[in-house]
Amino acid sequence: MNQMLRLGVNIDHVATIRNARGGDHPDPMRAVRIVEAAGGDGITVHLREDRRHIRDTDLDAIMAQAQLPVNLEMAATEEMLAIALRHKPHAACIVPERREERTTEGGLDAAGQHNHLAPIVTRLLDAGIRVSLFIEPEAQQIEAAMRLRAPVVEFHTGRYAHLVLDNDGPGVERELKRVGDAAALAAKNGIEPHAGHGLTFENVQPIAAIPQLAELNIGHYLVGEAIFIGLEESVRRMRTLMDAAR
Ligand code: PXP
Repeated sequence: MNQMLRLGVNIDHVATIRNARGGDHPDPMRAVRIVEAAGGDGITVHLREDRRHIRDTDLDAIMAQAQLPVNLEMAATEEMLAIALRHKPHAACIVPERREERTTEGGLDAAGQHNHLAPIVTRLLDAGIRVSLFIEPEAQQIEAAMRLRAPVVEFHTGRYAHLVLDNDGPGVERELKRVGDAAALAAKNGIEPHAGHGLTFENVQPIAAIPQLAELNIGHYLVGEAIFIGLEESVRRMRTLMDAAR
């Protein structure tokens, strides 16, 4: 068996449903407890600039009460940096963020934004936070992550997920090779590779089979599936599929 593949569960969309009515149900903290009971390895939250799902008070509660390591996805802004430094989560994943987008639509341009990212990465690392950069699976971006001294990169699997939906067999193979090659290159250079975005029960296994990957972060599908089978079963089933792929 290859090394253990961790599952980080992104619970943002529990908050999306709560926010649709403005009350306090469903409570993201309850989701944290279920993920813990179901065998998740980490809790991931994306505090967006517009607070459309997780809010500051959610982050306060999660940081105070979660037993699992917390991975804070954040834009590279002074506001988010201050929040991360105040909370000191286990990990921070720097993501590109534009207010108008529905979700994180492409990887961070770590190469093009070196000068902007460098002081932010350094301050997070100095605070003992494991920094990850959410990038496309490309050599140029991995090399940029190395120059930034990021210990972790997370490869954006959105393109792979779209190709699977389109039934584009050759495209899927090409994209899997891109993620696999990128994972090997990162690992060879001492960077821990992760992956995430758009992963589902149907498409997770070929990604989970890439031996260098150490963690997958999965959110929207798990919360969506929870409507039908419950969050605990949703997380358990994903865990089982990931383990079987290794
Ligand atoms: N990883 C990162 C860095 C993300 O920004 C997100 C959410 O956009 C995910 C993983 C999870 O993606 P999904 O909700 O599609 O599973």
